[in-house]
Amino acid sequence: MAILHLLLFSLMHLRSLTYATATKSYVVYLGEHSHPPAELLSESSASEIYGQVTESHCDFLGSFMESRDDARNAIFYSYKKHINGFAATIDDDLAAQIARHPRVVSVFENRGKRLHTTRSWEFLGLEHDNVVPSHSVWKDARFGKDTIIGNLDTGVWPESKSFMDDGGYGPIPSKWRGICQNKGDPTFHCNRKLIGARYFNKGYAAAVGRLNATFHSPRDNDGHGSHTLSTAGGNFVPGANVLGYGNGTAKGGSPRARVAAYKVCWPPSGGNECFDADILAAFDAAIHDGVDVLSVSLGGDRTPYFNDSIAIGSFHAIKHGIVVVCSAGNSGPSDGSVSNLSPWLITVAASTMDRDFSNYIITGDGKRFKGASMSQKSLPSKFYNLINAADAKAQNASADQAILCKAGTLDPVKVKGKILLCLRGENARVDKGEQALLAGAVGMILANNMASGNEIIPDPHLLPASHIKYNEGVALFRYVNSTKSPMAQITRVTTKIGLKPAPIMAAFSSKGPNTLNPQILKPDITAPGVSVIAAYTEAQGPTNLGFDKRRIPFNALSGTSMSCPHISGVVGILKTLHPSWSPAAIRSAIMTTATPLDNSVEVILNASSIKATPFSYGAGHVRPNNAMEPGLVYDLGVKDYLNFLCTLGYNETQVSRFSSKPYKCPKSFNLLDFNYPAIAIPNLPGSVSVTRVLKNVGPPGTYMPHIISPHGISVSVKPRKLSFHEIGEERSFKLTFKVRKANVSRDYLFGELLWSDKTHSVRSPIVVKM
Ligand SMILES: *[C@@H]1O[C@H](CO)[C@@H](O)[C@H](O)[C@H]1NC(C)=O
Ligand SMILES: *[C@@H]1O[C@H](CO)[C@@H](O)[C@H](O)[C@H]1NC(C)=O
Ligand SMILES: *[C@@H]1O[C@H](CO)[C@@H](O)[C@H](O)[C@H]1NC(C)=O
Ligand SMILES: *[C@@H]1O[C@H](CO)[C@@H](O)[C@H](O)[C@H]1NC(C)=O
Ligand SMILES: *[C@@H]1O[C@H](CO)[C@@H](O)[C@H](O)[C@H]1NC(C)=O
Ligand SMILES: *[C@@H]1O[C@H](CO)[C@@H](O)[C@H](O)[C@H]1NC(C)=O
Ligand SMILES: *[C@@H]1O[C@H](CO)[C@@H](O)[C@H](O)[C@H]1NC(C)=O
Ligand SMILES: *[C@@H]1O[C@H](CO)[C@@H](O)[C@H](O)[C@H]1NC(C)=O
Repeated sequence: MAILHLLLFSLMHLRSLTYATATKSYVVYLGEHSHPPAELLSESSASEIYGQVTESHCDFLGSFMESRDDARNAIFYSYKKHINGFAATIDDDLAAQIARHPRVVSVFENRGKRLHTTRSWEFLGLEHDNVVPSHSVWKDARFGKDTIIGNLDTGVWPESKSFMDDGGYGPIPSKWRGICQNKGDPTFHCNRKLIGARYFNKGYAAAVGRLNATFHSPRDNDGHGSHTLSTAGGNFVPGANVLGYGNGTAKGGSPRARVAAYKVCWPPSGGNECFDADILAAFDAAIHDGVDVLSVSLGGDRTPYFNDSIAIGSFHAIKHGIVVVCSAGNSGPSDGSVSNLSPWLITVAASTMDRDFSNYIITGDGKRFKGASMSQKSLPSKFYNLINAADAKAQNASADQAILCKAGTLDPVKVKGKILLCLRGENARVDKGEQALLAGAVGMILANNMASGNEIIPDPHLLPASHIKYNEGVALFRYVNSTKSPMAQITRVTTKIGLKPAPIMAAFSSKGPNTLNPQILKPDITAPGVSVIAAYTEAQGPTNLGFDKRRIPFNALSGTSMSCPHISGVVGILKTLHPSWSPAAIRSAIMTTATPLDNSVEVILNASSIKATPFSYGAGHVRPNNAMEPGLVYDLGVKDYLNFLCTLGYNETQVSRFSSKPYKCPKSFNLLDFNYPAIAIPNLPGSVSVTRVLKNVGPPGTYMPHIISPHGISVSVKPRKLSFHEIGEERSFKLTFKVRKANVSRDYLFGELLWSDKTHSVRSPIVVKM
């Protein structure tokens, strides 16, 4: 199951599908194709080869079935280009039988994954007062000119100004092989900015059922896909705002990039689902089309790598030099909640920026509470009666349900003309606003429950509203419960920038440790993911509720879905500036130049105002300017990833399937030595050494180490100095960890390693557990 990583619900709303028969749709994954890639083939020989591949898939499945025709009918995708495999509707026993065949890498059920502005680039230091400084790496990197960014999501709203090609886009880059799949929707057009769009719905159809005409278009009827794609690569659009708030010039991280949409997520609305078979088909197409960067703001439950369409698809993409950026998930703040764990991905957490949209609640006894809101309307400044939603319950509803302001739980007679006080949880925040309005409230106060702590989100509610922190909510409930006629007013919303401290980790952002391979620290990095303003669909109102008839071209959304494309945009400019760097070198540049400090020069806090750790922010908060010139990188190639697979217990025959030629696993390979830009030791047996290799990508320099040791652990490094003379030169070093005290804490401990030549700082987080 995978989801869009958009923060819609305060508690994860899980929808379970029930299946009438034992027949299900499955993906059968066979590894890498041995035929040459499409760019080396003529069109006719490519189509001949692809035809043979499909025949071989039918032959293969047919050998398990009554007939080859049955096999042909069962198969709904044959992955022919890069990813070798097929998706088919078959019964469970057959799936189990196929999984035992030696040619097969894995067989897994086709399940749904979920989809988990104007200010953020200035906050990240790429511009100043909304103006790009003359000495800007953004300029040097030509704003990501001609880098091609693809997005697996809900599609795109092609009429959005973020995707217009006015302002001198040259011809489409000649390497582009993609299409604009608009036969089913003649209103959908691509251009020199939005150079491609495809949709993939057979996996959805196999699992969910019949599709109507709206399923034959890459058009974004949800908003999520347009938002994420424009955050990564949207044009400069002056005068962008949400209901008047946050007015400024919208733009993506690579504003001059070309973009392409791969629609893999489909309604039921609010619970968008993105099926594995469709995700794999989209990866296979995007690799073929020639994208440079893939942004994937969705994920699912943690599954082994080769039962996971994102892990498989991105593995093939990386082999073609494509950087794949994924969201970490919105299942925080519990430990071990991070998803998208593959060591070939960039996994992105979410944090705030230095802007808020806030108003105040003033109670009858004169107390003030600061809240967040993007309500279009505001209340006249006078006092209104305030009612606890639990006290406004309908006769047939329980107080527990009514306090959440769920549909059908409120009594309009009790609510009418009052400000309604609702508790966060279960149903969507904007739904609570709709229910309040439907019950006749003049305003709504949304109070956090304990789990959501200090995390408040300015939503475009349908009525005047304010979202307040848990502690303040407790105080407000207490006031209402203990006062004969409680009163309140809600002030106008104002936009504030330059707030400190920022960033703060979002409570929803999923956290490490990595539950599959704790030696690989995840998430890798954090970027803005709260109240991000970017392009939207005009098929929905800003709350995505059917009741909401407003239509706006830009909207503010929150989630790791929103932080992920910030990193995709930064990758885009890095690709333009350094076209020869590998995906791992680009990730290293982004990670080793990130900062664990906020704009008050203190360690980044979590939403309960406690110091966060690398399990929340990975290497830290992204600094795009620094990432352009990292000095040194920790590089990794396909061989390293194959070695990684060897350590997972795949044997040589199996590993060779991923490399399309025989591969010899190394005799011994320690995952601690995997050349990742972070160091994670989940089980320190008293003493251990790890090695890393640094590669020079900057001017000649001599680098010295600076270490912050985890408490009670000694860390030594050898050699104590690394000198580089040429680009591409590599030097290895060894770090030795020793437990210094007998009574070291059994919890995870944190430190850092920094190599510096006084100009460049190459920083890695360290996490250690006894
Ligand atoms: C992969 O998925 C299949 C089918 O859903 C399941 O039977 C198998 O146990 C999974 N593999 C692992 C390693 O979990
Ligand atoms: C198509 O199906 C979707 C999802 O079931 C539904 O929301 C939509 O209204 C349908 N559209 C048409 C034109 O029938
Ligand atoms: C947004 O800013 C632009 C340029 O400063 C201005 O022309 C426009 O009126 C503003 N729009 C809103 C809604 O404030
Ligand atoms: C209570 O009754 C109303 C009116 O019949 C209905 O719309 C609502 O769904 C019911 N609520 C619950 C919680 O059963
Ligand atoms: C206020 O009353 C509601 C129910 O009426 C109850 O759930 C809540 O705990 C009370 N809160 C405080 C702070 O007294
Ligand atoms: C903040 O960190 C503390 C200490 O690790 C933890 O107990 C708390 O749950 C965290 N809060 C959030 C919202 O992440
Ligand atoms: C590798 O593993 C597969 C599946 O477990 C098995 O069929 C094969 O014989 C193994 N190959 C070697 C060389 O061990
Ligand atoms: C370890 O022992 C020292 C000295 O006896 C003490 O100060 C410290 O608090 C102890 N640390 C832990 C984690 O128990």
